Amino acid sequence: IRLRAKSGQLVGKKVLITAGGTREALDPVRYLTNRSSGKMGYALAQAAVENGAHVFLITTVDRGDIFGVKKIQVDSTQDMYKETRRLFPDMDIFIGAAAVSDFKAAHLAEHKIKKQSDTGLILELTQNPDILKAVGYDKTEQQIVVGFAAETQNIVTYGQDKLAKKHADMLVVNDVGQADSGFSSDNNAVTILMPDHEPEALGKASKIEIARDIIKRISALK
Ligand code: CTP
Ligand code: CA
Repeated sequence: IRLRAKSGQLVGKKVLITAGGTREALDPVRYLTNRSSGKMGYALAQAAVENGAHVFLITTVDRGDIFGVKKIQVDSTQDMYKETRRLFPDMDIFIGAAAVSDFKAAHLAEHKIKKQSDTGLILELTQNPDILKAVGYDKTEQQIVVGFAAETQNIVTYGQDKLAKKHADMLVVNDVGQADSGFSSDNNAVTILMPDHEPEALGKASKIEIARDIIKRISALK
């Protein structure tokens, strides 16, 4: 039986997407994380498949299967970094939609951390590797690297700075200061930044609509 013929601008292209918030273990039972739901990453995977791409999704959350998407489950930033570095050389496009923890425990406790009499606790954190920056610096002429950023103020200034620092071809900035957008919400209000382009604000829309729009713009890039 022949399934529906593949068509779309990304036929034959391999797309690597990261999704969800990374988790940094503190001890065997506790971790540091963030409010990311992974919805945007999954919406991007769906939109890329609709355009004919072969998609690899490195994710911390399981939001179900998508036909045509190979899921790779990870937990920590270090693991997401390792899997990304492993797969990236063979990819045409990388989209970093994960909410990556900037910090991890400096010393992972071997046993559950106990309270010490009546004092508090000071956690020492060290910086995680920057996944987007690593692939941005590694990419070849043919590869496209796209990042995301959530900002509450100075969206365009902070975004342009990240776009340049990470050598990305596109940065999608999410205005999380607005009500009902970002994180677990189904709606987003984003601004697209590209080198040598004026910032372009997309109106508030559902994550799948925004994902389709982003994929369309990426397909038009090279
Ligand atoms: N990112 C990453 N690895 C990190 C931190 C961020 O790959 N260790 C990626 C995110 O997945 C996102 C982009 O970089 O695509 C921007 O993330 P953001 O947190 O906004 O930027 P940071 O460089 O971490 O700056 P800050 O949090 O200080 O604003
Ligand atoms: Ca960060």
